[in-house]
Amino acid sequence: MPTPVIIDCDPGHDDAMALLLALASPELELAAVTTVAGNQTIEKVTANAVRVLDIAGADAIPVAAGADRPLVHPARVASEVHGETGLDGPELLPPSREPEPVHAVELMARLLRERPLTLVAVGPLTNVALLLALHPWAADRIERIVLMGGAIAEGNVTPAAEFNIWCDAEAAQRVFSSGIDVAMVGLDVTHRARLTPQRAEGLRASGRAGAFVADLHAFYSRFHATIYGDAATPVHDALAVASLIRPALLHLEPLHAEVDTSLGLCRGRTVVDRWRRTGLEPNSQVAVDVDGDGFIDLLCSRIASLGERRVSPSARA
Ligand code: RIB
Ligand code: CA
Repeated sequence: MPTPVIIDCDPGHDDAMALLLALASPELELAAVTTVAGNQTIEKVTANAVRVLDIAGADAIPVAAGADRPLVHPARVASEVHGETGLDGPELLPPSREPEPVHAVELMARLLRERPLTLVAVGPLTNVALLLALHPWAADRIERIVLMGGAIAEGNVTPAAEFNIWCDAEAAQRVFSSGIDVAMVGLDVTHRARLTPQRAEGLRASGRAGAFVADLHAFYSRFHATIYGDAATPVHDALAVASLIRPALLHLEPLHAEVDTSLGLCRGRTVVDRWRRTGLEPNSQVAVDVDGDGFIDLLCSRIASLGERRVSPSARA
């Protein structure tokens, strides 16, 4: 039986690839897509989420917009990484439909009342924290939260912090302290599982989704070439999705993680007790190793398989 999931995201180049990977994978059933302000504004990331579903002809999957800013502090977009649209690179057609007329948190609650689900959170954790605050009962209906975020020993938005956690440190701490089965897929592993321009370009001939990913990567790799000196890019969010499709890709360890919610130098850092120095009980499963080649092979083969997928009639070719 496929694992039913909700993907909460802020598309975003790697969010888009994560959505396409999920849509191409029979191991998962994508029950809904919810969006959260992060890489770009809530309006832009929501339109982008619909556009990505259009690419794969997935016009029956509900999309609902969520928080337009973090719980406490102002929003900050990542235009330098994802551009003004949030998906710079490919030609972007108008989204084929409007999002559901319901807040993301209410859509999550409605679906969780019907059946237990796995949440894959690949943007700031604002929506997930709001869900737990507004619907405490939902914690017992969430099978697992697989989140792309944090790091044991890396930072990308600051030297100390990863973007998703840094954006909404308070929301992240709410999630790590929730008692729910949380898997943290952080920079320590995503940076060791990178998509080269050659592999991305090799997807172009596979069909519309492959060409879309090739164009996304051509833009996305510029930031990484500038900052890291290497045009091979992590596909952070897709690795979180891949860990549900093929769990053996990641080695997870039960560890205690806490988020620095101060306003100091290390705001947004996930302080992971890697060697159990605190004696605190583990509260999450933290990814400490990855089969990077296996992930990229899975990602590329699944994206290529979408090439044959019918294009949504409403997404004009
Ligand atoms: O730090 C990487 C994360 O921040 C990814 O989810 C990317 O999409 C951005 O949201
Ligand atoms: Ca993201």
